Amino acid sequence: MKDKAGREIDYLRISITDRCNLRCKYCMPGDIETTDMENLLTYEEIVQVTETAAALGIRHIRLTGGEPLVRRGCVDLVEKIKNVSGIETVGMTTNGVLLAEYAKALKEAGLDSVNVSLDTLDETEFQRLTGRDELNAVLAGINAAKEAQIPVKINTVHYQHLDWKSILDYTNRVQIPVRFIEMMPIGYGAAYTGGSNEELFRQIEECYGNVSEAGTVRSREGEKYSADIRDLSYTEEKQQSGKHGAGPAAYYRFPGLNMDVGFISAMHHKFCRSCNRIRLTSEGYLKLCLCYEKGVDLRAVLRDPGKKQTLQEVMKKAIFEKPAEHCFEQVSEMTEHNAMVRIGG
Ligand code: GTP
Ligand code: 5AD
Ligand code: SF4
Repeated sequence: MKDKAGREIDYLRISITDRCNLRCKYCMPGDIETTDMENLLTYEEIVQVTETAAALGIRHIRLTGGEPLVRRGCVDLVEKIKNVSGIETVGMTTNGVLLAEYAKALKEAGLDSVNVSLDTLDETEFQRLTGRDELNAVLAGINAAKEAQIPVKINTVHYQHLDWKSILDYTNRVQIPVRFIEMMPIGYGAAYTGGSNEELFRQIEECYGNVSEAGTVRSREGEKYSADIRDLSYTEEKQQSGKHGAGPAAYYRFPGLNMDVGFISAMHHKFCRSCNRIRLTSEGYLKLCLCYEKGVDLRAVLRDPGKKQTLQEVMKKAIFEKPAEHCFEQVSEMTEHNAMVRIGG
C-alpha cells in the first residue's frame, strides 16, 4: 500500500529478539536489560502480523534481532513466513556467529538472502569492538552460507577505526558484495557518528580507480545509478533499490575490484523519499521510522479479545501515517531512545 507521502510500502523488518551473543560497542556494549519471553510476540503472532502485512502489500520480509539466530525455532519461522501468501522474499540480518550451524537448514526453509555484519578482520579489533572472540565463527558462517548457496552480503559499519582496505580485500577475494553503513545516532551509536561515505567513496576511488559510467550498477527498475557520487544523483529517487536486495544501499563497481560495493548513507545522503519499509519490534510494536519512538502496539491488538479495530485496520492507518523523513540531523527531535539491539537495524 502507499503511505501519505505516496511511497509504496512493501518491506517489513521483523525483530524476533532483543538478545544478542555479541556486545558491539555502538549497539549493545554491555549486558542491558532484555524483554521477558511473555512480552515477545510468539511465532504464531508474528505469522499473523505477516499475513496481515501481506494483505496490505508487504512483499519482502527481513528477520533481524538483536541476533535472530539466538531465538530457538527461528528456522521454522523462516519456513512459515516464506509460505505466507503474497510474501516473495525472506531475508535475515545476522552477526554470523551461529550461521555455520544453521546455514543449510535456513536454505532448506527457503531463506532468500543473508546479510552478515562484519566490521573488522582483525581478531584483536573484533574482540575490542564486539566484546567477544568470535571472528573465526563469523567467517565460518559466511563460508557456510555461501556453500549452502544463500546469497550473502556483508554489512560494515563506517566507524572510527574502519580498515576498509582489508574489508575490500576480503570481500573481493570471497566475491561477496559489501555495504558500508554510515553510523546513525541511535542508542549507543550516537557516540560514534561522523564517518562520511562520501569521503570513503573518494578514498576507494583513489585506491581502486574511478567508477565509470560502464561500471555503475543498475537498479531493479533498470535505472542507472550515477557514476559520480558527488553529483548527488546518488541520493533519493535513484537510491531506492539496488541490484542486491530491496534496501537503501546504492551499489558501485570500482575498476580494481570484482564485486559490487554498496553505500548506505542515511546521514550524508538521506534516502527517506524512497523509503519502502516498516518495522516490527520483538515486543510487537509497529515502528514506522527508525528515528521515532516505538509506534503502534500491535501486541495489544493481537491479545485483546474484545478489540474494536481489526489488526488490518490498525496497521493500515499506521502505515498511512508513516513519517516523511528521519531527523538524525536534529538529534533533539528524535523520539527513539532505545538501543539499536532492540530495534533491529
Ligand atoms: P536488503 O537491501 O534487502 O539486503 O536489506 P537492508 O540493507 O535494508 O538490510 P540490513 O538489515 O542489512 O540493513 C543494513 C543497514 O541499513 C543497517 O544499518 C540498517 O540499520 C540500515 N537501514 C535499513 N533500513 C533502513 C532505513 O529505512 N533507514 C535507515 N536510515 N537505515 C536503514
Ligand atoms: N548505525 C548504523 N548501523 C548500525 N548497526 C547497528 N547499529 C547501527 C547504527 N547506530 C548495524 C549493524 C548491522 C545492522 C543490522 O545494523 O552493524 O549490520
Ligand atoms: Fe549484536 Fe548486531 Fe548489535 Fe552487534 S550490532 S550487538 S551483533 S545486534
